[in-house]
This record gives sequence, C-alpha cells and structure tokens, in this order.
Amino acid sequence: MLKLNRSFASAFVAEDELVSYMDEHADVLARCQAGEDRYADSLGWLSVDEWASDAILDRTCALAEQIRSMADIFVVIGVGGSNNGSRSVQAALAPEGARLVWAGNTLSAWELNRVLDELEGHDVVIDCIAKNFETLEPGSSFRLLRQYLVERYGREEAARRIVCTGTIGSPLEDLCRAEGYTFVPFATNVGGRYTALTEVHLLPMAVAGVDIRALVAGARTMERLLRTAPVGENSAFAYASARNMLWDRGYRVELLSFFEPRFRWFSKWWEQLFAESEGKDGRGIFPAAAECSEELHSLGQFVQDGTHILFETFLDILEQGTGDSLVLGGTDVADAFGYLDGKDFWDINKASFTATREAHAGMLPCFTLELDRLDEEHMGMLFYWFAFACYASGELLGVNPFDQPGVEAYKRLMFDALGK
Ligand code: PA5
Repeated sequence: MLKLNRSFASAFVAEDELVSYMDEHADVLARCQAGEDRYADSLGWLSVDEWASDAILDRTCALAEQIRSMADIFVVIGVGGSNNGSRSVQAALAPEGARLVWAGNTLSAWELNRVLDELEGHDVVIDCIAKNFETLEPGSSFRLLRQYLVERYGREEAARRIVCTGTIGSPLEDLCRAEGYTFVPFATNVGGRYTALTEVHLLPMAVAGVDIRALVAGARTMERLLRTAPVGENSAFAYASARNMLWDRGYRVELLSFFEPRFRWFSKWWEQLFAESEGKDGRGIFPAAAECSEELHSLGQFVQDGTHILFETFLDILEQGTGDSLVLGGTDVADAFGYLDGKDFWDINKASFTATREAHAGMLPCFTLELDRLDEEHMGMLFYWFAFACYASGELLGVNPFDQPGVEAYKRLMFDALGK
C-alpha cells in the first residue's frame, strides 16, 4: 500500500490548517472523484478499466508474446507521455523479458547512431507511439528505424516487425493500413502524460516481461480507494491540498527525492505530469527531482540552506526486496570506515535518508510517500495516486490540468526553421 507521511511537514503546514483547507475544498474532491464533464475528452484514465480491462490486458499480453517470439530488442519510439511510463517501470523493476531500447525522444545524431549500433546482432521489433503523429522526435526516429528494418529484413518482413500505437483515424493509422503494420489504438480520451495505465505503456512493459496484470491490479486498488475515500481520509487529496497551501505561501519548487536510483525514470514521468499539467497562466509549482544520496553533495546545499522556495517529497520503500541487501565485510586495512564493518548497504542508505529528512525538515516542509514494496502492484498504485493528485492539484490551483498550450511556441519557430 501507499501512505503519505505528513509528520515532517507539520511545522509548516499544521494538521488543523490542512484539515480545514480540505474541508473548505471538499467540492473539488467530489468533482475529481466523479470526473467532470468539461474534461470528458481527457479523463479516460480515471476509470482504470476503460483502457486496461481484462480483455485489453489479454490482447496486450498476446501481442507481447508474439513480439517476444520474434525479437530480443523492442525499440520504443516515443517522447514524453509516450515514453516515460514504460521506461519508469523498466528502470524500477528490471524485468527479464526483451530488452527495451528508447528512441523518438531525441534529435541527437550521436544518440541515434548509438541506438542503431545497439541493434546490431539482435532481432528487432519497433513500436512507434504517437498520439498526434506530428511530433518531430518520434516522427523522425520512426522513419530512420523503418528504413533500417527495410534495409535489414526487406520490406515484407520489416512490416511484420513494425507496430504503431496511434490515434484511430490519424495519418499514422493510414500509414499502418497502407504498409501492413500492426496498429494499436492510442487511448482516445487520455492525454499523453496520463497514459501510463493504457496500451501505450502496457505493451512495452509486457514485452519487457513486466506482470502488467499485477500492475493494473495495483492501480485498480488505488482507484477504488481514492474515488471513494472522504476528504479526511484521501491521501492524494491531502497531498494536492498541501501543495496548494504551500503555493499560496510562496513555495515555488517541489523536489521529488529518492534514495533508490531505480526511481530515476519515474521521477521524469512525475516531472512531466506536474510541469505540463500545472505550469500555465503564470502559475504552478516547478517539479524537480533529486537522486540521492548523490544529490546531497550538490543540490543538498541549496535545499538545506538556500532560498526558501522549496518543499520536498520523498519516496521511501519500506520493505527490503530481492537484491536489496549487501553486507560490507570488515577489513584489516586501516581505511577510516571501520564503523561500517558488517553493516548492510540497505541500512546505511536508510540512515542517510532518515538523517537527510530530519535535517531538511528543520528548514522546509517534507512529505514522504511510503511504499510497502517496489513491485508491479506498487508501480500501478504510484501512477494512479499521482495522476489523481495532479488532477485535484490543478483544480485547486485553478488551471486546466489536461492541456499544454505552452509547448506550442517553440514548435512554431522550429517548424519554420525546418521549412515545414
Ligand atoms: O502529455 C502530453 O500530451 C504530451 O506531453 C505528449 O505526451 C508528448 O508531447 C508526445 O506527444 P505525441 O505522442 O503526440 O508524440
């Protein structure tokens, strides 16, 4: 299960103030739980089963099986919301199916050359994921990799090795029909960054060997909880409320901190979710991430001692899992670290975390989202919990959490420069 520990923030957001704030805004929670008509074209993720029903999971697992029988590398071509969800899960759980390789998220010739090199000597299938098939990064990578496959396998066999996840009726679907590629429908009423629990990400996860049924089960549990829990018992709404109270008090940056590098890509998913959902109309909290303990030796100085614009949310895994233990043996070399003899890195890392939280909490509000374990079920819970919290937080802030008009400005200039 997930639990929001607020005790290290109470000096800055007193519990009674938070409770009154939530009570005053109970109507917002009710609207989010029901889903508002005005966002009907963006709320497909709110009911997990709409895009991750048992029938869809069966279909996805069958396609994943077929892909794995043909390939040991699956190239995921997508950017932002079409990439970060499955990448988070692959990085967090290190599943043992086909290797996922990432493209469509860069325009760097060096990186794309590196990707092509990585494919050599492997059997390859690619998946171009694009909601509106206009984005430059996936569009250009798709052409590059399609040409690579045709050159390597011939046109007919290449067609068997190309999957596209796109909007029904889009030019990407037309292209698939014309060339005989496998077409997977992109959830129509879900924006990119909210698609973690749809085929956009479930297919790459399944190909990678993730138990997507367990992941979706975790998300369903979280949906049941958050869509029924009243104001006082709704942890995602408490988080959304506390963020907005802090915004009102001048806090402008939220740092998502974690002591497990396995959360590196999850933090990118989280950054995109909050940056694109809330950063608009001159408002919003800037989401940033800190991979600890490394960042304690860089960002840590600012967090502890710099301008008071920050609050922090820690991700903490409570139970040790497989691979989470490594005991440091004693030594007869006088290396000045004798106090670590026989200690487990799990405990050393925990000591670093609890000390950091205690020190930071003296200067800034610190929340902790506690997960019992890091597994499929909890990844599903995390995706739903943050998506729901982001919807509620955007509503409290008074912005539309589902559009992203701000990313159009640079695109117009870039397309002009490229002669589109
Ligand atoms: O959340 C969003 O909608 C965006 O960030 C998209 O995910 C991102 O821009 C990729 O879009 P597309 O899948 O259309 O290439």
